[in-house]
Amino acid sequence: MIQRAIRQIGIFAELSGAEFERLSPYVHEQRLPGATELFHQDDPGDAMYVILKGGVRIYRYSNAGREITLAVLREGQFFGEMSLLDGLPRSANAMTIEDTEFMVLKRNDFLNVLKSSPDIAVKILKDMSVRVRQADAMIEDLALLNVYERLIKYMNTRIRTGGKREGYCTIITGEIKRQDVANAIGSTRETVSRIFSSWQKKGYIKIYPSKILVYRDMSMDMAAKKG
Ligand code: CMP
Repeated sequence: MIQRAIRQIGIFAELSGAEFERLSPYVHEQRLPGATELFHQDDPGDAMYVILKGGVRIYRYSNAGREITLAVLREGQFFGEMSLLDGLPRSANAMTIEDTEFMVLKRNDFLNVLKSSPDIAVKILKDMSVRVRQADAMIEDLALLNVYERLIKYMNTRIRTGGKREGYCTIITGEIKRQDVANAIGSTRETVSRIFSSWQKKGYIKIYPSKILVYRDMSMDMAAKKG
């Protein structure tokens, strides 16, 4: 199973048959249940991971103990490469968000793959560029948008990536945990709850346990009027 999976997924789809043969003895599979911590920020790094199935949240803590989600990575994406490349400790925490299968590659094997397979090295650099762009956008949002605007942006992303238009409203399905939202936008659960309640009172949204109905366009003027 693992060999077939690696051949089709993420960076390893770039491998030629011979390269794949060379690599396969060094690769091993790992399967973990949801909510398992893989490693912590500041741990030494000894392996990188490619997600075969499932998802992983990458996050950091502030000194005050507040959490910020840097990325949620899915099938085909890799993580844990940074500390292998620069020799520094892990830059962030990693936790599974559901049952997840990985392919794990130890430090020296990863570095050898990079040296012997320029296509893989280029693919990794491309993905790392995408992440720097996303991090730049996140820095801009945190520095220049207020918490209302960040929450509006978050809601618009949820609408764009999974919202279903029905009559006068858009339905976002799935539980929206206020703590998860707060971690994604760099705020607190209490603030997110307060803004959601004010939007609910004004009839902009209606929150159910496993969905949110959105009755108007989430536009930045909602932030100007403070919700
Ligand atoms: P490493 O520093 O070894 O361990 C934490 C990993 O999280 C890191 O490698 C990257 O793979 C990943 N990571 C860190 N920051 C980001 C980010 N901003 N976006 C996506 N992934 C990240």
